[in-house]
Amino acid sequence: MVSALRASIKKTGSPFLRSAVSARLLSTASKQPTLKERLAELIPVAQEKVKAARHEHGKKSFGPVIVDQLYGGMRGLPALIGKARSWTRVSLHIIIVAFASDGFGDVEEGIRFRGKTIPEIQGQLPKAPGGSEPLPEGLFWLLVTGEIPTYEQVADLSKDWAARAAIPEFVEEVLDRCPPTLHPMSQFSLAVTALNHNSAFAKAYAEGVSKKEYWGPTFEDSMDLIAKLPNIAGRIYRNVYGRGKLPPIDAQKDYSHNLAALLGFGDNPAFVELMRLYITIHSDHEGGNTLPSYAAALNGLAGPLHGLANQEVLVWLTKMQAKIGEDASDEAVKEYVWSTLKGGQVVPGYGHAVLRKTDPRYVAQREFALKHLPNDKLFKLVGQIYNIVPGILLEAGKAKNPWPNVDAHSGALLTYYGLTEMQYYTVLFGVSRAFGVTAQLIWDRALGAPLERPKSYSTDAINKIFKGKN
Ligand SMILES: CC(C)(COP(=O)(O)OP(=O)(O)OC[C@H]1O[C@@H](n2cnc3c(N)ncnc32)[C@H](O)[C@@H]1OP(=O)(O)O)[C@@H](O)C(=O)NCCC(=O)NCCS
Repeated sequence: MVSALRASIKKTGSPFLRSAVSARLLSTASKQPTLKERLAELIPVAQEKVKAARHEHGKKSFGPVIVDQLYGGMRGLPALIGKARSWTRVSLHIIIVAFASDGFGDVEEGIRFRGKTIPEIQGQLPKAPGGSEPLPEGLFWLLVTGEIPTYEQVADLSKDWAARAAIPEFVEEVLDRCPPTLHPMSQFSLAVTALNHNSAFAKAYAEGVSKKEYWGPTFEDSMDLIAKLPNIAGRIYRNVYGRGKLPPIDAQKDYSHNLAALLGFGDNPAFVELMRLYITIHSDHEGGNTLPSYAAALNGLAGPLHGLANQEVLVWLTKMQAKIGEDASDEAVKEYVWSTLKGGQVVPGYGHAVLRKTDPRYVAQREFALKHLPNDKLFKLVGQIYNIVPGILLEAGKAKNPWPNVDAHSGALLTYYGLTEMQYYTVLFGVSRAFGVTAQLIWDRALGAPLERPKSYSTDAINKIFKGKN
């Protein structure tokens, strides 16, 4: 393996490859490859594969388009109605779309991570000693390489992230100066945007890095971003809800343990387990330039019909409990659901733009609840609603998917452990989503994927083009 890496350095002359390889050479004796070393082996193979596929199939029809348009960032593909023909508008829209569809998802079978279902990853990924949920470090390794890591590789990743976890002092100050009334998601997006100050990609780009080497600094930015999120999320939580000072990161502990500790729940092993499951199942998706685009995508995630729905679900459940009581009858719940629909509102936590069955992430959280909090009143209400809402949505006849999504459950679990501040929930969703965004992004850079540019037409243009045509 080492000689293959040496040969590839000779061929590319890449300093990023070189640093990955020299790290590898230093640790050849017993150690398994680190994530970056494994990527340095996988990327040249994948680049050749894409080249060959485009050469062989590029001009072939695939539905209404040709295969090359899939690789070419949808350039020129008529796919949008343009309402304001400005670049900002279009590119922002694209970033938000990227965040709004389930990148690793499958309409019929539900979410899959590199082809594996949630129960499969729960079975196969390494776990913390004594734990039963997968470590999100392992999920990240799987998303990036397509391979199941060993426990040692995952433990090394925990240590690497702990070493990168500190955030610059000025970012701490930015957060500390935010009024507590500013929504936690807005604070989150501000802090991530500010992190761009130290971006390895921005620095390498300014220094004229070759396109072939983009993936190296993108990898470093991705690792830094993931590593710093617990400190950002923890600081926002403590500032907004007056929960005291942040403890330091513990380099001996895994990522979820550190996140839980920063939020003030480090002493509760079941909450730490919940964080491992939560981050793992909320992780998939994709994005653009690491930090600014991730920040833009966070703003997309903060929409009430998207990631903020997990906040909306809890608001809705709490209002329902206030109106019809804690142990309400099925009849009373049905009436409340109908009143929501008749008021022209959506039932939060139900329906999905892509999936057409019960979200497997809902199922995973339900199973966690059955194990850890089977008698909790809010969990029972969530279950009662599961038996009632799909029938009503079917009867109402509009929603294409009447089944619950991931957001229908997460708030009830967090509330049970005492994390009751609903406005904060989407911050945790955003922390998890960084895993999927960055895994995609590293490969976008490794394979030189273009910006996505589907072509937008105004309604006037549509009327002109299709006038008189069938
Ligand atoms: C997720 C969601 C935005 C998908 O939207 P979509 O792709 O347009 O969904 P559909 O094609 O099924 O929508 C068809 C119609 O059913 C309605 N519908 C879908 N889900 C609904 C719900 N949970 N409650 C009430 N009406 C719903 C839509 O608003 C739409 O109505 P319209 O024709 O008057 O515009 C939608 O299901 C929703 O608003 N769900 C509630 C919010 C939520 O849980 N979001 C988190 C998603 S992970």
